[in-house]
Amino acid sequence: MEKTAVNTESHKLPRHLAIIMDGNGRWAKAKGKPRTFGHEQGVRAVKETVESAAAMGIKYLTLYAFSTENWNRPKYEVDILMKLLIKSLKKELKTFQEHNIRLNAIGALDTLPKKAARELEEVIEQTSKNNKMTLSLALSYGSREELLQAVKSISVKVKNNIISSENIDETIINSHLYTHDLPEVDLLIRTSGEQRISNFLLWQIAYAELYFIDDYWPDFSKQHLEQALLNYQNRERRFGKTSEQLSES
Ligand code: FPP
Repeated sequence: MEKTAVNTESHKLPRHLAIIMDGNGRWAKAKGKPRTFGHEQGVRAVKETVESAAAMGIKYLTLYAFSTENWNRPKYEVDILMKLLIKSLKKELKTFQEHNIRLNAIGALDTLPKKAARELEEVIEQTSKNNKMTLSLALSYGSREELLQAVKSISVKVKNNIISSENIDETIINSHLYTHDLPEVDLLIRTSGEQRISNFLLWQIAYAELYFIDDYWPDFSKQHLEQALLNYQNRERRFGKTSEQLSES
């Protein structure tokens, strides 16, 4: 029988949950409103998701907030997204402290507008001792770019005899990614009916369970999160093994 309540024992929950928050624009368009209204409502869903995930005991939550490709959107929309980011960081510092959440950011952070980068740095610093959940915002993030810079910095180390090429392994690659201090992703959720990865955490989702839902991001709620977790808990993760091997161990 399908379980109806999420099992919040730590070994039953995804340790690392990642979300591609998609559909803000279409949500707004369907209501005859500008796309930016969708982003504003998207922030509400971010808050509810962060608080619910922390309360349920998720240890790592990573949100795709702004991709490298998003820089190609109209300047007006990019500006609004950056303003929303700054406003939310200022406003939610209190929430992070109350819920013992550590803020982290992954991506080409040096390409963010100075004001956004400064605010981000400030909240990361102020929450650095928190340890209930690590919330990572992927900002100006692209997975291929992340892998590219990892390859470049490993190459420099090989050239300077800091690493020998024979010793390059998964641990070394992991340690050169933006996500070096995060575990690999267990569950990836994407909203809005699109079933794509869109250059998000390509290396880190190798064994992740994927969960796609039709609702647009601004409508995402605690109930959606619970449904996704229930679905995850009813799957068998085999990591290449057989079911029999799993039940023996
Ligand atoms: C996708 O909707 C969403 C984004 C571009 C980024 C998500 C941004 C937010 C939820 C708001 C700001 C975030 C923070 C952390 C303050 P879309 O515009 O691609 O929608 P569409 O596919 O319908 O056009």
